[in-house]
Formats: sequence, C-alpha cells, structure tokens
Amino acid sequence: MIPIVDLKGQYLSVKKEVMEAVEKALDSGQFVMGAEVKKFEEEAAQYTKSKYAVSVGNGSDALLLALNAYGIKSGDSVITPAFTYYATAGAIARCGAKPVFCDIDPRTYNISPEKLEGVLRVLGTKGHRVKAVIPVHLYGQMAEMDDILAIAKKYNLKVIEDAAQAFGASDKGRKAGSIGDSGCFSFYPGKNLGAYGDAGLVVTNDSQTAGLVKIYRNQGEKKKYQHSVIGHNSRMDTIQAAVLSVKLKYIDGWNKKRQQLAGFYDKELRSAGVITPFVAKDKFHIYHLYVLRFKDKGQKDRIEKSLNEKGVDARTYYPVPLHLQECFEYLGYKKGDFPEAEKACGETLAIPMYPELKQEEQEFIVKTIKEGLK
Ligand SMILES: Cc1ncc(COP(=O)(O)O)c(C=O)c1O
Repeated sequence: MIPIVDLKGQYLSVKKEVMEAVEKALDSGQFVMGAEVKKFEEEAAQYTKSKYAVSVGNGSDALLLALNAYGIKSGDSVITPAFTYYATAGAIARCGAKPVFCDIDPRTYNISPEKLEGVLRVLGTKGHRVKAVIPVHLYGQMAEMDDILAIAKKYNLKVIEDAAQAFGASDKGRKAGSIGDSGCFSFYPGKNLGAYGDAGLVVTNDSQTAGLVKIYRNQGEKKKYQHSVIGHNSRMDTIQAAVLSVKLKYIDGWNKKRQQLAGFYDKELRSAGVITPFVAKDKFHIYHLYVLRFKDKGQKDRIEKSLNEKGVDARTYYPVPLHLQECFEYLGYKKGDFPEAEKACGETLAIPMYPELKQEEQEFIVKTIKEGLK
C-alpha cells in the first residue's frame, strides 16, 4: 500500500530529536503556551519574514481569529474561491459574515484575479459590505498576490492569505503568508509542516492585528480575567510547538525533496499526455499535494480506480465545490455558477507526495497510470 501521505516515515526520521524536545516541554510543567510556544512563534516569524507570528489552536481558527481581528462580522461579506477546503469558508461563516464565492484559474486552481474583480463589480451594485478576500495557496502554490493586492487596494479590502497548504512557498522570493494583511497556517499532521496534533498560526506585519489575534485566541482576555471581546479558546499546546521547532529546521530540505519528486512525475506523466501541475511565473511551489488533471471525469475515475486497486492511494481534493455544499445552501448558489471549480472537482486527482516517497514507488505509480491510460 502506498499512502497519499506517510506520516510515520518522517516521524521516525526525527524521532530522537522530537522525543527530547517533547520531554523538555513536559518537564517544564507548562503544557499550554509554554516557553516552546514563544520560541516557535519567533522562529516562524523569522522564517516567513513577518514581524509577528501568533500561534493558535489550528488553521481553521487562524482564519477565524484574523477575521475577528479585522472586526469582520454579521452584515459583512468576504470573498474566497469556490474550490478550497471547507475551513476557509467555514471561518467566514463562523465570524458571522457571508461567504461570497469566486471561480478559479483552471491552470493553478487558485482564485482568478479577473473573476475576483468581476464578483466585486457585481456586489458593488447590490449593496454588499465586502470587507476582505481570502485567497488560498492551494496545493502549495501561491495565488497571484500582486493582482489580488491591487484589486484589494482599489476596493479597500483586507487580504487574508490562507497559506494552510503552503508553508515555505514563495512568490518572487516573498514568503507565503507575509504578503497580505495577514497569513494563516495549519500544522495539522498531514500538512507539509505538520505537528503531532492540531496547531495553527497567524502571521502579520501589523502590531494591532497581532495584538488582537492574541486576545481573541485566549477567551478575549486583555488582562487576566478581564475580557474585552468575545474570544475563543484557541491556544497552542507546548508539545506541538516543541515538535514544530524541531521540524522547522528540516522544512526547506523536505520542500526541496517534494520538488524533486514532482519533477520526476512531471517528466514521466507529461509525455504520457496527462496534465501535470502548472507552475506560474516566479512561484516556488512546495507541492503539499501533487495534483494531476485528466481529460474528463470518466478518465479520472478510471485512473483513480486502477491506482486504488493496485494499492496506491489517490484522491480528489476536493470532489464537491463549496458553493454546492449542503451547509452553504442558504447562500443560494446553484450548479453552473462556478464552472471552472466544478470541472476541477471532477477531473483532478492527487497522487502520493511526501519527502520519504521512494523511487521504486514513484515508478510503480507512474507505470500504473500509464497502463490505465491505454
Ligand atoms: C486550505 C485550508 N484552509 C484551512 C485549513 C484548516 O486547517 P486546520 O485543519 O488546521 O483547522 C486547511 C486544512 O485542513 C486547508 O487545507
């Protein structure tokens, strides 16, 4: 069985260091927000080239807390792509605002700046109070941030980067998370920088935003037992920070290895007629996921089935676009509203990608796909 991501192999490669760091963290007796948390925040700020990094409980809350920090609430609208993980739009709804979806660029699967501007033009005529846009750096490649920032400036919007899948990705040397007003990360174990439980992070260059995220993550507490806003319990465990500090040292090497593996897949599969990931100009793609595209849903389903039957895990991220999810029915969207997102849901397939993937495993995966195409 070749899994889509193998967490155990990587754990074994850092086990000794991780166990020592975890033991030290536990010995401190500070199990939540201990010294290791502060240390990881400093390291993460430096790594992402951001002034401030505020640790939180998970990536979903990172988005929610950033929205809270900007005062976004009921009556406001926030735009995000229709093709992303639920949590991006979930955070918008959880802060009371209305998620507004936008279609994607079919080459990168990221939000299309042209379509974003189109959505804003229509909303402007309908009296929506649009406060922010959340571009998602899907699969590990950054969205077209320069265009998005220019549009956001024109329409006076906050830009919150959903960098949950893109730790270490960059655009013209600018790190994911550091370009917008704030950037949100997830360290869910399966992420390219994964903790051994839930954890997340908000980075920003604005001291007020950082200060407010700190208040919102800790029950709205400004001072001990003095609650200035309705906050949440979304603090980072000391153990997770200890694990993340160890793994942060290796992330560049792991991301490089992912790129090498992607290079092999690209070469082998492109020549077989499969659409391999498109890397936009100046982007450093870290391949959190390696996603192929097939000519239609039928072909995608056939290849997925043959891989699965031969013991290779392959999946679609994501099979249902957000505007067609039951939980967002109240927004009133219908099939056909975002054709590129809908097509991507039917025609894309992620194949195994993690730094520990072996050459012979990759060869087997490629061979199985090529056979399935015949
Ligand atoms: C694009 C995206 N946004 C947000 C999240 C939410 O992160 P978490 O699972 O840490 O809450 C995830 C991952 O799960 C994600 O892939």
